[in-house]
Amino acid sequence: MTQPESDIWSEWLLKRRFGGNVRQMKATMRYLCPVRNKVLRHARLREGETLLDVGCGDGLIGFGALKKTASARVVFSDISEDLLHHARSIADNTGVLDRCEFTRAAAEDLSAIASGSVDVVTTRSVLIYVSLKQQAFCEFYRVLKPGGRVSIFEPINRPGYPARRDSFFGDYDVTAVAAIAQKVKAVYEQIQPPGSDPMLDFDERDLLRFAHQAGFGKVHLELQVKLGPREKAIDWGTMLRTAANPKVPTLEEAMEQALSPAERDVFVAHLRPLVEAGGGTIRSAVAYLWAVK
Ligand SMILES: C[S@@+](CC[C@H](N)C(=O)[O-])C[C@H]1O[C@@H](n2cnc3c(N)ncnc32)[C@H](O)[C@@H]1O
Repeated sequence: MTQPESDIWSEWLLKRRFGGNVRQMKATMRYLCPVRNKVLRHARLREGETLLDVGCGDGLIGFGALKKTASARVVFSDISEDLLHHARSIADNTGVLDRCEFTRAAAEDLSAIASGSVDVVTTRSVLIYVSLKQQAFCEFYRVLKPGGRVSIFEPINRPGYPARRDSFFGDYDVTAVAAIAQKVKAVYEQIQPPGSDPMLDFDERDLLRFAHQAGFGKVHLELQVKLGPREKAIDWGTMLRTAANPKVPTLEEAMEQALSPAERDVFVAHLRPLVEAGGGTIRSAVAYLWAVK
């Protein structure tokens, strides 16, 4: 395998989540823009205020905030030096650098940010990677000024687990090839053990509890759940080359790792028609949380 040019966060956010497919990239952005707008609506950022975006990635929330205001400032923070560098060059190229700061910091340790120094904290799909979620909420509370707002969006993955033994990914029925499918699933479960991985160890009630225990008053939570048949077929090549998150391999890589060439042929012959026929079940839950200090 060739060495990636940048860290796993940057590789995934800028490339591996799209499976090399421009249509998938556009579809992802069509999904994310309303999410960003809602996170920002809940944040109620005003002119002249400072917003700290924790786990800023390539700047979805931060650049949205700069666009919606003329004089608000954004502190982009992330654990990924590569993504901070990327966000900085976007800020430079779009003429907003003078309203931006870039700080390397983890959600659970924002010691680089002074207490009571920001008006808004936002974060989108970051706490799923953080084990010390309560500590992260306490840090959000600490860095906010009195009356400051926190606005969060997180996927809630727990409803999908434990996954049925006869299902694979989006619930494709793999009963006929269960033993082979199990070898591929084991690759993923070894990296993200369902019982302990931070992506799977919480739900919306935990988010509420974390916010409340950190000291936030007026906590709001909105849960959106979708359960039903997948309406659109997925391009097989895209499915093969897409990684579900920064920590895991693509399906192609996992099969390569776990299966012999003969097993791969049997597995693909079973799974590919199901994927291309648009079968499978969607189970998705996401939570928006917003609160005031
Ligand atoms: C799914 S991306 C989301 C990026 C961005 N918030 C967005 O809305 O597009 C997750 C981001 O969280 C960052 N991240 C992962 N663990 C983190 C941690 N412990 N503290 C802060 N950021 C973290 C990654 O570097 C990555 O940029």
